[in-house]
Amino acid sequence: MVVGVGSRLPFTAPWLLAPMEGVTEPCFRELVLERNPPLTLGGAFTEFARVFSHVLSRPVLRDHLGERRFPQPVGLQLMGSDVELLAQTAERALECGAPLVDLNFGCPAPGALRTCAGSAMLRDPAALEALIAAVVRASSPAPVTAKIRAGYDDDRDLEQLARAVEQGGAAMLTVHCRTRAEGYSETVHWERIARAVASVKIPICGNGGVRTHGDLERMRRETGCRFVMVGRAALGDPWIFSGHRATAAESAQFLLQYAGLLEERGFPRAGALARVKQLVHFWSAGDLVGEKRGQWLRDAQLLDRIASAVA
Ligand SMILES: Cc1cc2nc3c(=O)[nH]c(=O)nc-3n(C[C@H](O)[C@H](O)[C@H](O)COP(=O)(O)O)c2cc1C
Repeated sequence: MVVGVGSRLPFTAPWLLAPMEGVTEPCFRELVLERNPPLTLGGAFTEFARVFSHVLSRPVLRDHLGERRFPQPVGLQLMGSDVELLAQTAERALECGAPLVDLNFGCPAPGALRTCAGSAMLRDPAALEALIAAVVRASSPAPVTAKIRAGYDDDRDLEQLARAVEQGGAAMLTVHCRTRAEGYSETVHWERIARAVASVKIPICGNGGVRTHGDLERMRRETGCRFVMVGRAALGDPWIFSGHRATAAESAQFLLQYAGLLEERGFPRAGALARVKQLVHFWSAGDLVGEKRGQWLRDAQLLDRIASAVA
């Protein structure tokens, strides 16, 4: 099943893994894709690749994309505000094998805002539309998707932003239902996703606040969105897409394999350990961590501890 049929989207199912800087590099993505077959996880995204002062090189783009080993597409996400640089980088990304390009209009980080990129673009729907249109022209016929937050300070421009994305020619709009000002607050407003669905014809991918496998279908039912994207909940339970309840051993195996893959691909040991700890911070799979989270996060021998937890 190719869910995007008729809308040029190559996703194999309605559930998607969110782009997450510092997490969704090829090792993590591969382990998630390996555990969630194409009918359960429809696609994933790279972490954002920042386009600031020059067109990104092919090696950089290939590093983000990694090897294609799974049927699901991995969209390459770009973030920037320079129309020409973004258009040329998108063209190059497709030459390097990206099946689609996603544009980031949600990043709230000061570095992005300083260069008028990420969520800064939400303040100027006309510029956002022009930027999308240029990338769509450079990428044709490959699809270009866009990811926004519900607004910059508030959500009053949401419909206008959704229409700008559609008029720019994007094939899908992901709506992270928090505004930039709301950061990563606990409270989420799924009705904003429904508002985006009602204001445009392109498929909407809802995002924000999915915690369980059951929430995936619930978000679709409650908002009418076609796709659902999961961020942090997938860092705690990479099986969230298929709904498989991992055992403690499977859960530990994931973390150990992750550390191994990172090292194999050139991460220094300390860097790999830091990445594993980043997951442990969120980890819920297999009830492996529980009360021990604090201790585990302080432990320099964490990998031995994980191995012995399931030995
Ligand atoms: C560690 C981390 C890194 C992120 N990096 C990106 C990114 O590179 N690009 C992007 O569009 N969103 C990024 N996000 C936002 C997520 O894609 C997602 O929109 C957000 O976490 C809300 O979804 P959730 O409530 O399911 O976590 C990041 C979020 C986290 C937690």
